[in-house]
Amino acid sequence: MKIITLKINQKTFDVELKGNETLMEVLRNHLGLTGTKTACEESECGTCTVQVNGKAILSCIALASDLEGDDILTIEGLADGDHLHPVQQAYLDYGAVQCGFCIPGMIMSTKALLEKNPEPTQEEIEYALDGNICRCAGYPKIFDAVRKAGEAMKLGWQKKTDEAAVKQTGPEKIVMGITYEEFVKTLEPAREKAKEA
Ligand code: FES
Ligand code: FES
Repeated sequence: MKIITLKINQKTFDVELKGNETLMEVLRNHLGLTGTKTACEESECGTCTVQVNGKAILSCIALASDLEGDDILTIEGLADGDHLHPVQQAYLDYGAVQCGFCIPGMIMSTKALLEKNPEPTQEEIEYALDGNICRCAGYPKIFDAVRKAGEAMKLGWQKKTDEAAVKQTGPEKIVMGITYEEFVKTLEPAREKAKEA
């Protein structure tokens, strides 16, 4: 038995491991963070994707004990109170969610991509989401949502409650950023179109 300390969604957790648990097992079984899904458990489907130090990784093949001191982000850590992260909001507004099983992993991969490259080409989107399988085959709408979310990410959206991020990025970024309300306005044309269809 071994106790490790993990930083997940800006909070610190002491976790008692029984053996070589993966991050996915710790998230779901020890901490009840079941937003991270599990399916193949052998790095084939992408449904268990989370971010570690800003990079999308497969939590089913990452040993929890290797991640002490790292910054782990799961789907539960994205929303800002009642306000969804732009990637989550864009997936909803573009009808990119069908059964929803792949979506947490898809969103985490999308976020990691857009943080590095908010204006990805179609090829770059497909490459970044290549490891995330959607059994409902909702790819066209997912790609639309990725592009739209990129527009908000480009403008520097960040969690209002994320004080650490505020400190790191400095006031210039905040002035350039858009608020959640402003971002939602950018989605209005898509909503109108959806109503007409
Ligand atoms: S459950 Fe991790 S890749 Fe499938
Ligand atoms: S929405 Fe059903 S698996 Fe992707």
